Amino acid sequence: MKHSVSVLVVFCFLINIIDSRIFPEPEQNLKAPEGWLPAERLASNDTVVLTFALKQQNVEKLESLVRAVSDPDSPHYGHYLSLEELRSLVQPSGETLGAVRSWLKKHGILQCDSIMTGDFLQCQTDGRTAELLLPGAHFIRYRKGDKSVVRSNSPYSLDPTVAEHIDFVGGLHRFPNEKKVLRRKKGKSDEVATKFHLGVTPSVLRQRYNLSISDVGTHPNNSQACAQFLEQFFHPADLSEFMSLFGGGFEHRYEVDHVVGQQGGGRAGLEASLDVEYIMSMGANISTWVFSNPGRHESQEPFLQWMLLLSNMSSIPWVHTISYGDDEDSLSAAFMQRINVEFMKAAARGLTILFASGDDGAGCRQVSKERNVFRPSFPASSPYVTTVGGTSFKNPFQVTYEVTDYISGGGFSNVFPMPDYQVSAVLEYLKSSVKMPPESYYNRSGRAYPDVAALSDNYWVVTNRVPIPWVSGTSASTPVFGGILSLINDQRIKRGLSPLGFLNPALYRLRGNSTNAFYDVTHGCHISCLDDQVLAQGFCAAPSWDPVTGWGTPNYPELLKALL
Ligand SMILES: *[C@@H]1O[C@H](CO)[C@@H](O)[C@H](O)[C@H]1NC(C)=O
Ligand SMILES: *[C@@H]1O[C@H](CO)[C@@H](O)[C@H](O)[C@H]1NC(C)=O
Ligand SMILES: *[C@@H]1O[C@H](CO)[C@@H](O)[C@H](O)[C@H]1NC(C)=O
Ligand SMILES: *[C@@H]1O[C@H](CO)[C@@H](O)[C@H](O)[C@H]1NC(C)=O
Ligand SMILES: *[C@@H]1O[C@H](CO)[C@@H](O)[C@H](O)[C@H]1NC(C)=O
Ligand SMILES: *[C@@H]1O[C@H](CO)[C@@H](O)[C@H](O)[C@H]1NC(C)=O
Repeated sequence: MKHSVSVLVVFCFLINIIDSRIFPEPEQNLKAPEGWLPAERLASNDTVVLTFALKQQNVEKLESLVRAVSDPDSPHYGHYLSLEELRSLVQPSGETLGAVRSWLKKHGILQCDSIMTGDFLQCQTDGRTAELLLPGAHFIRYRKGDKSVVRSNSPYSLDPTVAEHIDFVGGLHRFPNEKKVLRRKKGKSDEVATKFHLGVTPSVLRQRYNLSISDVGTHPNNSQACAQFLEQFFHPADLSEFMSLFGGGFEHRYEVDHVVGQQGGGRAGLEASLDVEYIMSMGANISTWVFSNPGRHESQEPFLQWMLLLSNMSSIPWVHTISYGDDEDSLSAAFMQRINVEFMKAAARGLTILFASGDDGAGCRQVSKERNVFRPSFPASSPYVTTVGGTSFKNPFQVTYEVTDYISGGGFSNVFPMPDYQVSAVLEYLKSSVKMPPESYYNRSGRAYPDVAALSDNYWVVTNRVPIPWVSGTSASTPVFGGILSLINDQRIKRGLSPLGFLNPALYRLRGNSTNAFYDVTHGCHISCLDDQVLAQGFCAAPSWDPVTGWGTPNYPELLKALL
């Protein structure tokens, strides 16, 4: 009897503990990606950097403001906010700041940095204190080759006094993303062909997308950027050699103007070289920045770190291209929803953010032994970014007609509902397309992507002083499209107009008005699940918008006309 009473007491006590803990990211995938091995328990005095996403104010107001400044039909189109104005809108309430600060102070955490919008707090502490602060967290050091990260292998919880004031805590779970550029060498039968076909270079792209010699940047206040999170670096000497080899026939720069973050030594990364070389060939003669952000500390999340940087710099480039992406189903809803608000903040400032749509077609996830579904990728699936898919030349020996690149990422979000700006375009596709996969594989009500496309196959890149052929993937098409938007910004700024900002509302509105702004891609399908039902086929390109190549690839003179 006595025994069972004490068991009951202990049981109630446990219930109490469970009740009073709040887990902000219960669905976040905690598994280390392939290659990362747990090495040791973090020493109790080792440094940990925690990033607190503080609850923002006026998120609904921000959302309607973004709609107003991005919609060409609105009287507020192009009336962007300064970072200071954005701060007044979204900064956390005094109550939120007070509650979080006193909770941290109670744990002896005093070393914290804020950012200009006031909605993130980044604090340094030691492993033991961090585990007491966030019950459930259990820090391990993981290694992969000579790289190491510190992550928790179990979910963290928040004290009830602060749970409503914090969206999520960064620095515990998400591993650095390691998506690599593809290298697709064609088979033997192409050997003869390579003699004729020189692969994709700046002059091929400029010819295909109708850029003339004079289509280069001219405005001193225009700028563009690409961001790297792969512990990769570009070498200025590679860029310079690339331009000497492939930069004939148009005015361009040989140097990056500004590197934000660490540019380590060592070997250059193919991905880093690709981004810089191609954004500077399309957005030629435009000041270019590189956000090279490997994460300064082993417990930071590089992508999150970049988002913080954006909100901590009042003067930054207008166009940003990024090739980072993760499976939606591996990320917590709290993380994705908050990052989506960060994209709204960028849109409110007039920044154009472009993400690669991914290199796995529709993707595939096994949900049970018998059942597969497609696998959307985030941030490609955010309704507040412009997502870029991929194409290849139908005849690889001629600079003409483009078809679907079978790797081009695309599909429908399971997290974000379909935004108004794309409803009629997507419904038309769903209604009229004949070759559709079964409905059980995708979510017809979700945000559909990509929005646009560009060539993604068979690029030349100079890396570590060597020209490398057959570089492929949507991480090639994204800087190409970004550079073209920078040229359009240049013309707009010159005419006293606002920069393009968040492009999608204007983009989907072009339909009908100006059908020549894009080369519509109507042939080919992308890949998906290798199963009996879909036989590795995802969606197929179709006339007008489709979830493989979006609206198609840019015809610069017409796109410029349509967006002026
Ligand atoms: C942590 O403690 C160990 C021994 O207790 C000591 O050797 C080490 O230098 C300490 N590390 C730091 C970062 O203070
Ligand atoms: C934001 O910028 C300020 C001023 O440059 C700096 O002191 C602060 O540390 C930055 N915040 C973070 C989180 O890096
Ligand atoms: C774009 O280039 C194609 C050939 O590459 C040409 O047929 C077309 O007229 C050009 N369009 C414009 C608007 O310059
Ligand atoms: C290149 O850009 C600069 C301003 O950054 C401008 O002065 C110059 O005229 C441009 N070159 C050409 C060929 O347009
Ligand atoms: C560039 O920006 C600066 C600062 O905003 C401004 O003073 C200058 O007039 C601008 N230059 C041109 C050519 O518009
Ligand atoms: C489909 O997408 C909506 C958002 O548009 C979401 O609320 C819903 O949960 C998704 N369904 C599935 C099965 O994931």
